[in-house]
Amino acid sequence: GKKIIIAIDGKSSCGKSTMAKQLARELGYVYVDSGAMYRAITLYFLRNNVDITEGSQVKDALEEIELDFRLNEQRGEVEIFLNDENVEYLIREMIVAEKVSEVAALEAVRNFAVNQQQKMGKLKGVIMDGRDIGTVVFPHAELKLFLTADNAVRVERRFRELYQKNPNITIEEVAHNIEMRDYIDANREISPLRKADDAIEINNTHLTQEEQLHKALELANGLL
Ligand code: C5P
Repeated sequence: GKKIIIAIDGKSSCGKSTMAKQLARELGYVYVDSGAMYRAITLYFLRNNVDITEGSQVKDALEEIELDFRLNEQRGEVEIFLNDENVEYLIREMIVAEKVSEVAALEAVRNFAVNQQQKMGKLKGVIMDGRDIGTVVFPHAELKLFLTADNAVRVERRFRELYQKNPNITIEEVAHNIEMRDYIDANREISPLRKADDAIEINNTHLTQEEQLHKALELANGLL
C-alpha cells in the first residue's frame, strides 16, 4: 500500500513514544525517536566536557559524532547507538535530561539532527516523534498528531518510568525537570515546540493506551 510519514509532537512525557511505537508496530512502519538523538548528543557533550557556549567546541564535537538506530531483535524495538555504542539506556538518566534542552536549543545541533532525520524519512513508512517534526523536519508529513495531557498526569507517568530504574528519584525532581524542559523547548529561538496548523490534537489525559492508539490508527488508516 501507500507509505506515508507520520509526525507526532508534544511536550515531555505526553505519551508520544508509547503511541508512536504501537502505531509503528501496527502499520509495519519504522519508528524514529528524535529526542534520543538530542539525548545522545548531550551524553557525548557531557562525557567530553564540551563547553556549549563555545561554538567551535560544539562544531568540532558534532564532527566526532555518529548516530544510528539499530533493531534489537529480541525486544523488537530500535535502539540508538552513539559511535557504535548502545546508549539507549544511558540517555534516559537524569543527568542527560537536565542538560538536553540547552543542547537541543543550539543551531548547530539542530542542523545536525534534522539533517539526519530528514534522510531517514526519504523512504516514507516512518513515524517520528519529537517537538518540531510536524513544523520543521517534515512540514509535508501526510499525518501530524499533536499530543497533550495534563501536567500532573505527565509527571506521574514519567516518575513511574524513572522510579523503576532509580528508586531514589523524587516526584519533585521529575516535575521540575519536565517543567524546565517544556519551558526551554517552547521558548527557544530555533524550532520551538509548536502545534503545526494542520496537526490534529489528541488530549490523552483520560484515554487508555488502547484508546489513544485506536484514534491514531483510524486517522492513519483513513490515509492509506
Ligand atoms: O522526547 P524526549 O523527551 O526524549 O526529548 C528530549 C529533549 O530533546 C527534549 O526535551 C527537547 O529539548 C529535545 N528535542 C528537541 N526536538 C525534538 C525532539 C527532542 O528539541 N524533535
